[in-house]
Parts: sequence; C-alpha cells; structure tokens
Amino acid sequence: MVSLPETAVPRTWRAPGRVNLIGDHTDYQDGWCLPMAVDRECRVTVAAPSGPGIRARSAQIPGVVEVAADGATAPSTVEPPWGRFVAGAVAACIAAGIPVAPGDLTVTSTVPLGSGMSSSAALAVALVVAFTDLAGAPRDRTDLARLAQDAELRATGVPGGLLDQMTALHAVPGHVLLLDCRTLTVEPIPLPRALGVVVVHSGRARTLVGSPYAERRAQVEAAAAHLGVTALRDATEDQVRDDPRARHVVTENARVLAFADALRAGRTGELGPLMLASHASLRDDYAVSTPELDRAVDLLMEHGALGARLTGAGFGGCVVALVQRNHGDDVLAKVTRTLAATGEADPVAFAVRPGLPAAEVTPSEGAAPPGG
Ligand code: GLA
Repeated sequence: MVSLPETAVPRTWRAPGRVNLIGDHTDYQDGWCLPMAVDRECRVTVAAPSGPGIRARSAQIPGVVEVAADGATAPSTVEPPWGRFVAGAVAACIAAGIPVAPGDLTVTSTVPLGSGMSSSAALAVALVVAFTDLAGAPRDRTDLARLAQDAELRATGVPGGLLDQMTALHAVPGHVLLLDCRTLTVEPIPLPRALGVVVVHSGRARTLVGSPYAERRAQVEAAAAHLGVTALRDATEDQVRDDPRARHVVTENARVLAFADALRAGRTGELGPLMLASHASLRDDYAVSTPELDRAVDLLMEHGALGARLTGAGFGGCVVALVQRNHGDDVLAKVTRTLAATGEADPVAFAVRPGLPAAEVTPSEGAAPPGG
C-alpha cells in the first residue's frame, strides 16, 4: 500500500469550477459545448494520516468524513453528504487499479455550492488528480476526466456527461473551450479582450440528485434510438421537428458551432443572440429553466448584458452573461441593486475570468483558493 510518511509535507491540488457559455444538455448526446473554467476553484490538501483510512474535513461544512482507503466504504453511507465524493473518488481509483493512501484531507472551495458552476465536479476532479499523483500513477487528462465522472456517478447516482470534468482538466488561461463530446477533443479559443463574463445566482439552489436530469437524458436517448442514430449529434433538425427535447439538442449543437465560428472570426455581435436563443430552447423545448432563472436573464439584458442564459443543467442555480468588459461592474451593480430592491435577501452576482486547469498547487500559492 502507498502511504504518506508521518513527516510528509502537506500537498494541495486544485480544480476549477466552470460556466458553460453555450451548449447545455448536449454532452451526453455526443454533441458540442463551449465552457470556460473559472477563477474559482476547489482545493484539496492532503496531509499525513491521523488514522487508518481517509479523514476529510471541509472548510465550509461542519463534520468529519471517514472513508476506508481500500474502497470498501459505500458512498451512499457517508455523512455529511459531500463526503460521498471522497468515497466515490476512492472507489473509482481503486476500480481503475490506482491505490489510494490513507491521509487527512482538507477541502476548501470558492465555487458556489449547488449553483450549476460544477462545484461537485471540481471536488471530484481535485480528488482524483490528488490520488493519482500521490500514487505515482499519472493519467492522461481525458482519462482523469472519466475517472472523476465515475467518482461522481458513484457518489450521487446521477448519470452526468463529461462537460464539467473535461473543462476542469483541459482549461487554458485566457481561453474558452470548444469541446467535442464525441471525439473528446478540445479547441481552446481566446476570450476576446473586450468581453467579460458575469454570473448571477437565481436565488434558488439546485441539486441534480432528485432532479429530472436523468429523465431528460433517458428521453433523448430514446429519441436517438427511435431515429436509429448513435446520438442526436447525427440527427437533422428536420428529423426532430416534432420532438421538443430532441429539437433542443440538435438546435443547441448548431448554436454552439455558430458561437465558436463567431468567436474565432471576432464577430462578437452574434454571441449574445445565440445565448438568448439557447436559453429560450432550454426553457421552452428542454423545460429545465425556472422563473428565477428566466428573471435573472431578463434583468441582465435590461441592465446592458450582451447575452445571458442559464448555465449547466438548470433547475435552479446560476445564469451566465457576456458583457462589454468595461461595463461589467456597472451591469453587476445594477442587477444586484434591482434584486435587493425586489426582496432578494443576499443577491449573489460576480465577474469570472478564465481559470487554471486542475493540477497540484505550488507551495508558494498556499492552500486557499482565489475568489473567496
Ligand atoms: C451537468 C452535467 C453535465 C452536463 C450539464 C448540462 O452539469 O454534469 O455533464 O450534462 O449538466 O449541460
């Protein structure tokens, strides 16, 4: 068994959260997405073990998580529930032949929890990168994404795609990513200097556990099977005209490719309308928006955003918007003021910048993540 010597100096790993600028509910149909890793991240610090297994604490949530290092702990039995990701990551690594050493873990995150910004994927990715590095079992970045996806499936039972994990692992500073979920290739595209990205929380927390996420996924899998295609990436708009769920996936793929083309060519005026069309499709065809998300989109547009849409799975969480970078503070101030004036107790709205890929943090950076 690998184990940390008693005197080992604690080591820290990071993994960023993400916003998805366009391309939601396409990843599990071999489609395209256009995410950006953000400058808010989860950090996992591993110190020498104080017991026989893994003992983990969160800087945000009280309680101590105890998990066997041999993968014997069933994730669903772990309390508090965030610890299920630790058990899921251990089990995923063991199943992949990666030994996990006992150790004391501290987890601290500046990705807003339960907000659609991939706080859980950031945790799962940071854990599997830490465990594989500690085991001296380096893996290709896309393999690590799959390992983290497996960890999350074991932790929650939710059959997520690879959008969040691929973004955390393939992030490039200053860039957004065009992600092809069939070939699992990533094309970094520079975020134009004149553009800024802001996030507004809708005020309603979300969790994918118990949401219709798995149901939506099953609906579009059935649509693909009915059409006789491997995935809806291979379907035409004509073929899905009368099926709103499948129509969302097919039209969203087209919008992602148009968005990427516009970004590469510097036609930034086309980006906002594509984001709004995406939100409308997620709301009307895919039925994953909420009144609070719709309102946040409207508010952002009223206060000068270029485009806005829900980001991630929907069912609550955050809205992402593109703004002229020099207007970002103004848009945020106006949206926050309006939300506060209409009874939102503690409006959450902030700017995000492209973040760093998941990796070990150098000692000079310290263990605290940016953006807290
Ligand atoms: C969640 C899942 C992703 C993706 C999005 C919707 O974030 O984890 O795999 O399906 O929802 O685009």
